[in-house]
Amino acid sequence: MISDKIAKMLNNQINQEFYSSYLYLQMGAFFEEEKLNGFAAWMKIQSHEEGTHAMKLYEYVLRANAKVELQKIEAPKNKWKDTLDVFQDTYKHEKQITSYINGIVDNALTEKDFATFSFLQWFVTEQVEEESTALLILDKIKLIGDNKTGLFFLDREMSGRAKS
Ligand code: FEO
Repeated sequence: MISDKIAKMLNNQINQEFYSSYLYLQMGAFFEEEKLNGFAAWMKIQSHEEGTHAMKLYEYVLRANAKVELQKIEAPKNKWKDTLDVFQDTYKHEKQITSYINGIVDNALTEKDFATFSFLQWFVTEQVEEESTALLILDKIKLIGDNKTGLFFLDREMSGRAKS
């Protein structure tokens, strides 16, 4: 039902989503160390969400009668300068993920694989959300600058994220 090329790209994307989960879990640990519990909780929820993205792709590959081939997950970076540094990386990472998704969408269209094209629309929409959320938080962190009270209140706001 899907070509070997598309199956390979989807398998790579499963790996990327699990890598994202790892990356955000590592960022969560950074925030725990910094005693920013709201940011830590946000990252742990984000990490969990990335796992669900991987599983969506996993189920699709299976349903499409193709082979799931899990790959080694790269160890994420584990040192950051500060909160700003973490969210600069987060935003950069989500833009990278968007480009991977767009690459698969592009190939699905070229191959006239409309089933995969349609399946990926959820990810296209999700990436708009992921990028805009990361950018919004990044902008708030920039606005706060070195103000510790501002960071304290933003941390409190971050703890309000509900698990989906
Ligand atoms: Fe699953 Fe944050 O992209």
